[in-house]
Amino acid sequence: MEVRALGKTGLPVSVVGLGCWQLGAGWGEVTDADAMETLHAAADSGVTFFDTADAYGDGRSERFIARLLKERPGEGLVVATKCGRRVPQETANYTPTALKEWAKRSQDNLELDTIPLTQLHCPPDGVYETDAVFDTLDGLVADGVLGAYGVSIETVAQGLRAIERPGVSTVQVIFNAFRLKPLEQLLPACAAANVGVIARVPLASGMLSGKYDETTQFPSNDHRNFNRHGEAFNVGETFSGVPYEVGLEATRRLQGVVPEGWALSEVALRWCIDARGVTTVIPGARNASQARANAAVGGRPALPDAVIAEIKATYAEMIAPYVADRW
Ligand SMILES: NC(=O)c1ccc[n+]([C@@H]2O[C@H](COP(=O)([O-])OP(=O)(O)OC[C@H]3O[C@@H](n4cnc5c(N)ncnc54)[C@H](OP(=O)(O)O)[C@@H]3O)[C@@H](O)[C@H]2O)c1
Repeated sequence: MEVRALGKTGLPVSVVGLGCWQLGAGWGEVTDADAMETLHAAADSGVTFFDTADAYGDGRSERFIARLLKERPGEGLVVATKCGRRVPQETANYTPTALKEWAKRSQDNLELDTIPLTQLHCPPDGVYETDAVFDTLDGLVADGVLGAYGVSIETVAQGLRAIERPGVSTVQVIFNAFRLKPLEQLLPACAAANVGVIARVPLASGMLSGKYDETTQFPSNDHRNFNRHGEAFNVGETFSGVPYEVGLEATRRLQGVVPEGWALSEVALRWCIDARGVTTVIPGARNASQARANAAVGGRPALPDAVIAEIKATYAEMIAPYVADRW
């Protein structure tokens, strides 16, 4: 497993991390036992970076990670959490008091004195313009509550604005074969500013595994059922905002260039890892076998040029019209 420094934090992290939203809620049923098994399978496979949020299962995901850290001391595991999504999404709710309370709650859930990295969790536009937010985060770093902070963003424009703030160490962005816009400006700008890039939703919510079809049913407590049209949160977080049938069609086209011995999910992850500017990719996993398969991509070779060309052509011809102007 390749290891890279996570932007200004300097923390060494595996190029394949683990997205831990699934271990909280919102993806159908994941039992406590499955959650812990998934975390350990990832760590056994060389994953050292775990992305979570205070909102995932209202702290359930963070509390599993606390258990993992206690069960595997001294292994250099790094947790990144997020804050801000447990209140109505208004800039006025991002007060210094609230930011301090959110950090304290994550400290308690994670059972850590210092949270290595916290991220504003796709905040409203006004937050990016609010000095008090960033001053408070700087203060939390100075006090040792946070090791560092970053921003999880929805749009490229927000990412470019975020990295103007000198205290921002990382940016988390949707980057996958259905979201190529970050390649143009955001990834080069982050590289130039030594801002770590955490590529989320690398499998377009599982679409880029190639395992779904027109008959696939998702449970009622899975966002791929209840947020298909953005009913609960930004529609871009569900299948990357690509209409389901369009995603299926594009995925079938990509299946045609998967090299022998690879799975489409592996191609999708390797594509992210090798994009210049990306530090780590954080596929979500609902079970240990997914976590192991995804981690193994950290030791795979780069993709052939023809595959990269087909990903770019598929995006340009089939996907860009649905996403490029929005995010
Ligand atoms: N606003 C934010 O900051 C934000 C938003 C979204 C995500 N995130 C973070 O990013 C992480 C990753 O994004 P995501 O989980 O939304 O989407 P994702 O990683 O693109 O997709 C995850 C889904 O892909 C499927 N999958 C994973 N590994 C597989 C494999 N080896 N073979 C076949 N299928 C596989 C699983 O689907 P099935 O469940 O169908 O098996 C899994 O639930 C999250 O866990 C979270 O930590 C952050």
